[in-house]
Amino acid sequence: MKDRIVLAYSGGLDTSVAIGWIADATGAEVIAVAVDVGQGGESLETVRQRALGCGAVEAYVADARDEFANEYCVPTLKANGLYQGHYPLVSAISRPVIVKHLVKAAREFGATTVAHGCTGKGNDQVRFEVGIQTLGPDLKCIAPVRDLALTRDKAIAYAEEKHLPIVTTKKNPYSIDQNVWGRAVETGYLEDIWNAPTKDIYDYTQSPEFPPAPDEVTITFKQGVPTALDGVELTPLQVIQELNRRAGAQGVGRIDVVEDRLVGIKSREIYEAPGAMALITAHKHLEDVTIEREHARFKATVGQRWSELVYDGQWFSPLKRALDGFIEDSQQYVSGDIRMTLHGGQAIVNGRRSDTSLYDFSLATYDTGDTFDQSSAKGFIDIWGMASKVASGRDQRVAGE
Ligand code: ARG
Repeated sequence: MKDRIVLAYSGGLDTSVAIGWIADATGAEVIAVAVDVGQGGESLETVRQRALGCGAVEAYVADARDEFANEYCVPTLKANGLYQGHYPLVSAISRPVIVKHLVKAAREFGATTVAHGCTGKGNDQVRFEVGIQTLGPDLKCIAPVRDLALTRDKAIAYAEEKHLPIVTTKKNPYSIDQNVWGRAVETGYLEDIWNAPTKDIYDYTQSPEFPPAPDEVTITFKQGVPTALDGVELTPLQVIQELNRRAGAQGVGRIDVVEDRLVGIKSREIYEAPGAMALITAHKHLEDVTIEREHARFKATVGQRWSELVYDGQWFSPLKRALDGFIEDSQQYVSGDIRMTLHGGQAIVNGRRSDTSLYDFSLATYDTGDTFDQSSAKGFIDIWGMASKVASGRDQRVAGE
């Protein structure tokens, strides 16, 4: 029997050509696997038929949209996951769910090897291969673009020569990756980091310069999970989709950063993540009223470390799993409503209510009804400042000697 290789298939030129390219180079049969993580565009059936038309012996398509929303986007929201404080981990969280389906397909179809279309310069190759090694330690990995020298020009020539059912138009100057959590655009004109992004780069967001009338939305959370918008119960996937639409119309969630890739390169990235950024803002504000101070401070550092691990391809690692345990536990009381206004590129919280709030009006108020005993403050401050005061006395004594 021929060896079998499972290929992560997007339906685009590179991975369509990779089907025949891999078969020619290895003599193996290729099984194309396409995973829907809410990237939009063509139907999965169209993508499936194209894979078969390009020579795949089998084509497996998975609708992973709810799985991706529930098991990848929601944990990122609970962590307030932003790599380097900016990037909501759009591509980083989609690779592990794709890996799960690749490994599952490899088992079903008796494949020995998994292939992906990444280059050798990015993070995604690491995320795919570390994930595959972890979930399928016996599986081998190949990357035709990186390891079998499949360049864009060769891909176009190959597609034309073999009459593959794919349009081989002039290269889009940008490398784009998108899913329901957001969209990433890089390369081309953006590689000059002084160049401002042009309008054509954006797809999930409208320009915030001429926004429609302000849009006020109430987001309901139960233990950190978004469960309703304006009182209408929705699944996490539906909440993200609806906020992509509403926050996107207001230009919320445009991000322009130079970020540190795992492979040591600094790279310029444009992201748009209207739903993700509106949700993270709302969620953080709900945590502000429901999580105790020291717990919240520590959680912020956990969330940062969690984001670095996820960015760096360690989704399935023991440390990431242990931090998930901490984050999950922290969400016990993160329930309630956040009201926010979406307008002109911003998502601004203007109201919060929660049955599990720690906000105590009678402690906070400066009006009548104050229950805070101000006379305790003086002694507290004397003791709180004691250590610094003793050290400063020592500094002055030594300086005077
Ligand atoms: N730099 C981002 C990341 O590493 C986005 C990568 C987008 N991938 C792509 N093939 N365009 O997560």
